Order: sequence, then structure tokens, then C-alpha cells
Amino acid sequence: MAQESYQNKKNVSREEEDLEKMFWEEYAKYYKYIENSGPYRGIREKMEKLLEEKNGSIILDACCGIGSLFEAIIQKTKCAQLIAVDFNSVALKQAKEKLNLLPKEEKEKIKIMKLDLSKKLPFNDNTFDAIISNAGICYISQFENKTNGEAIRAILNELKRMLKPGGYVCWSTFISNINFKKVYLKYISEVFKQSPKALIAGLKLKKTTDHFHSKQRQELYHFLSPAEIKKVHSDVGLVDTQIEYAMAGQCIIAKAKKL
Ligand SMILES: C[S@@+](CC[C@H](N)C(=O)[O-])C[C@H]1O[C@@H](n2cnc3c(N)ncnc32)[C@H](O)[C@@H]1O
Repeated sequence: MAQESYQNKKNVSREEEDLEKMFWEEYAKYYKYIENSGPYRGIREKMEKLLEEKNGSIILDACCGIGSLFEAIIQKTKCAQLIAVDFNSVALKQAKEKLNLLPKEEKEKIKIMKLDLSKKLPFNDNTFDAIISNAGICYISQFENKTNGEAIRAILNELKRMLKPGGYVCWSTFISNINFKKVYLKYISEVFKQSPKALIAGLKLKKTTDHFHSKQRQELYHFLSPAEIKKVHSDVGLVDTQIEYAMAGQCIIAKAKKL
């Protein structure tokens, strides 16, 4: 049944996990060249619109990468604290550098932590008013001992655990038959215009595109349909699922609430 097909993804070995970490560290070296290209900017802008203003709130940016969403989260939500986590030292180094470009009062609100989202996180139940994960959790192939389609349900369950009642999760993923090679062609022309260094980055990014393409073919990502997203949300007790599209319909943004 279509609604349950998220159960049917492949298992992941320890070796594949390590390779995945190395892949993200390599990707982070070039990510700055694409973070402001059309396709990525479009997703972020749509996500930003879904963020809610709440003075004093505490927000989690799960898989924060190089911190592309920091400024928008702080400004749009008026939060008191933003905790940003990723397992990628190369990305987090850049995220920390980004903090230094922010006004002092914004910088002081952000705490960056190196954490792996494929494991239980060290935060108490009911900690966050909102959890945001842009192109993050959809790429995580396992959680604790859970693989297959069980992993995304376990990850969302863990996010729900950490949400306060009334809090919301907002995460983005891609349509299951997304063509990463076409997406690459869209952003690469913008990358090439930036500088000679960007030219090299563009060629390296071609390799990362091939990696995305191959993992997607092996069904190792959680690229769920809107119906599957609603089902998995409801399985873990997240309600009022709202679905938006970005990147010319290739990216799905889901938002849902904990009662
Ligand atoms: C495509 S980037 C998106 C970064 C950021 N959210 C943004 O909007 O620019 C995906 C990020 O997920 C991180 N990631 C992947 N698997 C992870 C895991 N198991 N735990 C923590 N972070 C992970 C990667 O290191 C990478 O920084």
C-alpha cells in the first residue's frame, strides 16, 4: 500500500555509515558555493515563511550544516536560544565562523553542538518550541538499531519527544524520483560565475551529485511522498501536517505539531 511503502527501504552497514560521514565532510568543503544558489535559496525561503514568531522560544536546527538558516531563524522566530547540531566537523567549523559575522546579541543566542542525529540526542523531553531540519533528516539512513523505513519514524519520534506540547517540527525532503543531476545543472551555472576557486568546487560538487544519485537509486534516503509523510507523522503522534513544495516541485517541506 502506498501509505506504508516508507517501511520498505534498504538496510545500512557500519561501513556505509562511516562512508556517509566522510561524504558529508567532503560536501561541506564546497557547500558554501551553492548555499545561495537559486534551488537552495528557494527551499530556505519557503521554510522561513513557515517559522513562527515566539518571543523567548528555544529552537533546534537539526543537521544545521554551515549554518545557512541561523540568521533567518533568529530574526523570524525572535527565539531566546537556537541550538544547532550536526555530526560534521568541517561544516560546524564554518558554522562557527558564520556566528562571528552576526551581531553580538544574535550570536549569543546560538549554541553549536557536534551530535549525530542517528542516535538519541542528549536533550530532555519537551525542550524545544520548534525543530527545523532543512535537507537533513531525510538523508539519515538509520536510527540506533533501526534501519529500513523504521529509521525515519524513529528519528521523527525522537524529534517529537524533544518538542514541547504545542511545538512544531518543520523539515524538508525531496520527491522520490528527484533528478539530482538536473538540480546540479541548475545551480552549477551560478557557482561557476563566482570565482576561479568556485570552478574547482563546481567540479567536486559533480562527484557529490553522483553520490546522491546513487544512494537515491538504492533507496537509502527517506524521500517520502506527502501521503507517507502524513502517515509517519501520525504514527509518532504529530498532527496537522502541512505540506509545501519548493524547487519547482522537487522539494517537499513538511510541518506538523505536537499536541
Ligand atoms: C544538505 S546539508 C543541509 C545543511 C543545512 N540544514 C542547510 O539548510 O543548509 C545536510 C547536513 O546534514 C548533516 N547530517 C547528515 N547526517 C547526519 C547525522 N546522522 N547527524 C547529524 N548531521 C547529519 C550533514 O553533515 C550536512 O551538514
